[in-house]
Amino acid sequence: MEKLVSLCKRRGYIFQSSEIYGGLNGCWDYGPLGVELLNNIKQVWWQAMTYRDDIEGIDASILMHPRVWEASGHVEQFTDPMVDCRECKARFRADQLDEMSCGSPAYKGRKASRCAEEGKFTEARQFNLMFKTFIGPVEDESAVVYLRPETAQGIYVNFLNVMSASRQKIPFGIAQIGKAFRNEINTKNFLFRTREFEQMEMQFFVKPGTDEKWFESWRNERFQWFLSLGMAKDKLRFQRHEGKHLAHYAKDAFDIEFEFPFGWGEIEGIHNRTDYDLSRHQEYSGKNLTYFDEETKERFTPYVIETSAGASRSLMAFLVNSYSEEEAPTAEGKMELRTVLRLHPKLAPIKAAFFPLVNRDGMPEIAKKIEQEIRPSFKVFYDDSGAVGRRYRRQDEAGTPFCFTVDSQTLQDQTVTVRDRDSMKQERINIGRILNYLQDQFR
Ligand code: GAP
Repeated sequence: MEKLVSLCKRRGYIFQSSEIYGGLNGCWDYGPLGVELLNNIKQVWWQAMTYRDDIEGIDASILMHPRVWEASGHVEQFTDPMVDCRECKARFRADQLDEMSCGSPAYKGRKASRCAEEGKFTEARQFNLMFKTFIGPVEDESAVVYLRPETAQGIYVNFLNVMSASRQKIPFGIAQIGKAFRNEINTKNFLFRTREFEQMEMQFFVKPGTDEKWFESWRNERFQWFLSLGMAKDKLRFQRHEGKHLAHYAKDAFDIEFEFPFGWGEIEGIHNRTDYDLSRHQEYSGKNLTYFDEETKERFTPYVIETSAGASRSLMAFLVNSYSEEEAPTAEGKMELRTVLRLHPKLAPIKAAFFPLVNRDGMPEIAKKIEQEIRPSFKVFYDDSGAVGRRYRRQDEAGTPFCFTVDSQTLQDQTVTVRDRDSMKQERINIGRILNYLQDQFR
């Protein structure tokens, strides 16, 4: 993880939020490459989830009527147990003491659970994870609103609007990508548990009785999505939620987990939320949220199958999955360590880089011209500084799948070399074919 965090900073993937002021715990900024990767993940998800005839997209506001969070159960139940250490004053999530270290320099590296055994902690009390703020100029109880802790509720409250505007019939889904906020007691592991993050959620509305079939189908589809983007099969698994681990709204739930360097962790949850949310919003809003099936003449409250992925957590999983260090030959034939991000080409922030082999004989001009021709179609990069081997290494670290080099042969036959990031193999192609070549790779 340390190597990955350092590469993320060095190459401009992720920076600490407000770093020049010492950082803000649980918040991260996406640099030039990070924002491209994040946008690509979201775009590929959006395409998979909404470029189909039974799912519509939406972008709901972050601030919602406070009754939404009473109806959803978040005001009452979205809590974690918290304890304070009487000695070092550190604050911990009481159900994760084994994963946390004691806050005192005197006991460096010691698990917080040992301090608990020695009776150093206060009694656990429930802490609500929703961030509160005020709407309008008056800061009193009647003006309290929350930053949404999940995007799902923006979908439920728009269920009728979307259904009637798009003339959808059940079964159908509504998808959304957006920020969510949780005032986590302990943030940890880089982007894994943060206080501000992005979710990619889809709520699929189905007839009660068909919910288990749809639950299984969405579980499989979401697992395949990660595999199709190059996730190693042995680093992914399902984990079912049992008993007290089931969320208050769920009848059944599976996590898709990824094996991070610190252990297995959830990247997406698939939940059978039954009619819980629509029934609760019906009760709290007084609006009829039932569905009338014209064919069977039945009226019912739809069940919801939810797929809920973290965009930021998935980004971290894709980075971990793609990070590799290996021995590779230099131009002089020596071996050196090569760090490479083997990101799926669809996710790679930069799709292609263009180099002149040397900065003379018109090579920079040709390389620059090619780069400018390709730039409107793909995110590309031009580099003429340092030895060409160094430039390849820099692009390997950035995860760029293809590098094109203009050399002395280009001057004679209008061909360039194209180097594949993963195999490091090179072939020659005609300059006029570069655009088609790239289009074929990203189809
Ligand atoms: N609407 C259901 C829901 O929000 P969740 O399991 O609490 O379910 C879904 O969250 C996904 O959101 C998780 O699988 C994870 O990827 C992401 N997520 C949740 N809390 C997070 C946090 N504190 N930091 C980063 N990602 C988080």
